[in-house]
Amino acid sequence: MATVISGKELSAQLKEEMKAQVATFPEKYGRVPHLVVILVGEDPGSVSYVTGKAKASEVVGIKNTTIRKPDTISEAELLGLIEELNADDTVDGILVQLPLPKHISEDKVIATIAKEKDVDGFHPLNVAALWQKQDCVLPCTPKGIIKMLKRAGVEIKGKRAVVIGRSNIVGLPVSKLLLDENATVTIAHSRTADLPTVTRNAEILVVAIGRPKFVTADMVSEGAVVIDVGVNRDPETGKLCGDVDYAAVEPKASVITPVPGGVGPMTICCLMENTIECFLRKMDKQL
Ligand code: GUN
Repeated sequence: MATVISGKELSAQLKEEMKAQVATFPEKYGRVPHLVVILVGEDPGSVSYVTGKAKASEVVGIKNTTIRKPDTISEAELLGLIEELNADDTVDGILVQLPLPKHISEDKVIATIAKEKDVDGFHPLNVAALWQKQDCVLPCTPKGIIKMLKRAGVEIKGKRAVVIGRSNIVGLPVSKLLLDENATVTIAHSRTADLPTVTRNAEILVVAIGRPKFVTADMVSEGAVVIDVGVNRDPETGKLCGDVDYAAVEPKASVITPVPGGVGPMTICCLMENTIECFLRKMDKQL
């Protein structure tokens, strides 16, 4: 039987700690941190993510403004809105929910958000700082994964870690963070030759490929730590499921994260932490 890491429980604890910290801010700094989330269009997945971010802000005591725009908004208008928020001194964090409609360049949008307000850690200067071991905003999902591993008492140093997925949001940055914790990291993907042989070598397996039940029991070695970043719909039941065939893999794993209630809540928790960090950097500079 694997130890199941509840991201839901851990994030609830961490949010309580942040709440106590934020409660001291009005007296110290005259206000609380302010996060602005921009949602373009009506995609149900994105609506649910944005709602989760607003709810978490409320719990922590962070001011949240969610700006909803129709998917017909032009790129120029969206970039203009971001510029306005960049210039607004009362805004500490800006997040544009991805994906965006095809006519809007995500790269341009991400690069337009001021680096100091980039709570996602997606800005090219933040990404560069991460890879150059400089001070930066860490992307939320990779940061949440490392926190979960540490909290579960998993020793990362010296371990063989395999990451399936090479996206800018998860695969690449989580590989870098594992490397910084002194794991030896292999980055695999959907085209990796003989993937099961690669993944069976993993002591820590992180899966971020976005395919329901992609990781089957034969791909996991006995005692592995399995972190499932997937958020998919099970094609048979229509329910939310991860990238890992949980029922088949759980008995082999020593530690595993469930979907839902695993990595997802930790991502939002780290977004709260990043918003506080951006706020404090600004305020401490002004003091
Ligand atoms: N879409 C899916 N995950 C994320 C995320 O972490 N940040 C943003 N902005 N959009 C997302």
